[in-house]
Amino acid sequence: MKVGRREHFNAAHRLFKKEWSDEKNLEIFGKCSNPNYHGHNYVIETWVEGPIDPTTGYVVDLKILKDIVIQEVCDRFDHRNFNLDIPEFENLIPTAENIAVVSWRLIRAKLPKHLDLVVRLHETENNVVEYDGSDEL
Ligand code: NI
Repeated sequence: MKVGRREHFNAAHRLFKKEWSDEKNLEIFGKCSNPNYHGHNYVIETWVEGPIDPTTGYVVDLKILKDIVIQEVCDRFDHRNFNLDIPEFENLIPTAENIAVVSWRLIRAKLPKHLDLVVRLHETENNVVEYDGSDEL
């Protein structure tokens, strides 16, 4: 059984590699590499899979999942600049992919072990990424 929760945050970023020139960054990352940053209204969906607990009838109390996502992700990222404010991105390009991985790790650390986690991050209306932790060591 899978259950999910949707939350929002807005944050700024710039996609660029320090080792590359502005021209090379523009060539690879397009407008997302503009030097003065820009924002996105991110939507984060967290999907949790596991058995229904016969005592409660829940896979996980969605209030608990909500609190974890808000504390670990939204409170940390909302109204921040990924490049400047979030230590995890000091040497990591804040693409939707990398934001999803960092979010997955933060949520995973707080979630009961027997539950599987998938994070789906919508960066725009049309762009979405999904991470299930299968790349984790
Ligand atoms: Ni962008």
